[in-house]
Amino acid sequence: MGLNYYHILKKVREGRKLVIRGITTAGSGHPGGSFSMAEMMGCIYHKYLRHDPKNPLWPDRDRLVLSKGHASPGLFSNLAVAGYFDKSEIETLRKFESRLQGHPDYKCPGVEFCGGSLGLGLSFSIGVALAARIDGKKTHIYTIIGDGECDEGQVWEASMAASKFKLDNLTVFLDRNFIQQDDYTERVMPLDEELVGDDISEMWKNAARWKVGDKWRSFGWNVLEIDGHRIEQIVKAVNSVLQTRGTPSIIVARTIKGKSVEHMEDNPKWHGVAPNSQISPIIELELDCQFLIAPSIIAGDMTNLENEVKRASHGRADFIHLDVMDGIFVSNKTFDHEKIRQLRSVTQVPFDAHLMINEPIKQIKNYVDAGCDVITVHAEVCDESSFGEIHDVLRSNEVSVGLAINPETQLPSWTEKFIPDLDQLIVMSVVPGKSGQKYIESTHEKVQNIAKFLTEKKFDGFIEADGGVDLTNLESCFLDGARVFVGGSAIIGQKDVRAIIIEFRKKLMHARRKLLIHRAYSLGGAELVNKWIDLHEVGKKKMDLLQIAKEAGFV
Ligand code: DX5
Ligand code: ZN
Repeated sequence: MGLNYYHILKKVREGRKLVIRGITTAGSGHPGGSFSMAEMMGCIYHKYLRHDPKNPLWPDRDRLVLSKGHASPGLFSNLAVAGYFDKSEIETLRKFESRLQGHPDYKCPGVEFCGGSLGLGLSFSIGVALAARIDGKKTHIYTIIGDGECDEGQVWEASMAASKFKLDNLTVFLDRNFIQQDDYTERVMPLDEELVGDDISEMWKNAARWKVGDKWRSFGWNVLEIDGHRIEQIVKAVNSVLQTRGTPSIIVARTIKGKSVEHMEDNPKWHGVAPNSQISPIIELELDCQFLIAPSIIAGDMTNLENEVKRASHGRADFIHLDVMDGIFVSNKTFDHEKIRQLRSVTQVPFDAHLMINEPIKQIKNYVDAGCDVITVHAEVCDESSFGEIHDVLRSNEVSVGLAINPETQLPSWTEKFIPDLDQLIVMSVVPGKSGQKYIESTHEKVQNIAKFLTEKKFDGFIEADGGVDLTNLESCFLDGARVFVGGSAIIGQKDVRAIIIEFRKKLMHARRKLLIHRAYSLGGAELVNKWIDLHEVGKKKMDLLQIAKEAGFV
């Protein structure tokens, strides 16, 4: 089974957009903590939870208990995306008589716990877990607690009880975003090593300071520590806890408050404040413009691909791009599924396999079984029927579905019916066959046109730019509409992969900021541009934004 990566990613994005819609309409609510837990919620609701939105009280269901109830918009948005109620209901958030209140309430279908008074959710979950055991049910309880919430003594009493009762049907997620209502957690009540120095927003990045896992370990819990925004790490952790017997588990997820909206990220102000209605369309665009970086390992040492995978994963790549060439569809040969199977154990980072092979339908299952998470086949060697079959095999194995076109290929008309459900479209910007070629300039226009066409056809996937992408053209590729960026010679071909990926990210952030500034200007002229810029208080974002606005003549 694959990660179902894009499926979850798209649900998470949709959830975040609903949070913004609800909170903006209400004029109040908690975006920060809704966003720090968004990927965790997305994985639970859209991969693990055994539930039935049409029968919310199904007795054998799993439970998701949101103990940090103030993040209710993050819960409601997932319930809406999962189908418990119509998405438009999110606009009733916090209104009189609405089922969606500032804190979760049983009158909303899918809500398992009336949270809000902090510190209680874990005790409640223990009761549910014990009841499930007594009733002989397979129910698993997933409970999300906050780090500020850990100031409550009851959390620690509950943690002793869960351990005493060996509740292996209980998994807790600690949303470790380092910020609580008034300030950084380490200033209010430190959970980690005592802070020496002022740069609090930087401290969570220093792994040596993370001690909260030790506290839970000493209480007898199975503890896993992950990056709470990386789907593959959440999935691996949940798979592991579901196999654990005899102890409750806690997944300490390091997260960023306000994650995915730059001005909210890591800013305590956004714990419980709503964006105004002028700003929210810009935020929505920002949420639609998330990007991924995918180093291609064939640009490295082909005799030691394990090491290339390690370099990419150490460099914090989002995907490992695997260029499979069969010597027939393209004249070169690289590796096949056997090699991918060997590489699979080297990293958890998702495998983005680009199959440059003839008759992919004959081999697709081998690549699924080898552990690929996204598989892209070429339109030149498919037709409606074979691609339909490929699509079904991939979907049923939770592998994301990609289609690629060569520089001289236009999207064939048979692809149209697949577009709304397609996860990824690779628009090749070199003639496929090897890395290190020059980007074909006409691809810019081609991608711009395709992006427009895809939007009309209700595409909600990602365009991947592949071939000759480097620091000089990255920004234009982003502005064309690409959101996944393959880098062979420009990333793997470089000595310091981690440093170059940081450079890639900086360029892409800059390009995104440009897009958003332009959106602000078109929506509200210089005044809105200035408002948008002023929101960016933490870090050096503001300087970059000002520069962009000045260059465009907006301020
Ligand atoms: C070309 C491959 C690309 C390529 C990337 O056939 O699909 O992924 O190797 O390498 P660069 O970035 O060097 O073009
Ligand atoms: Zn490729």
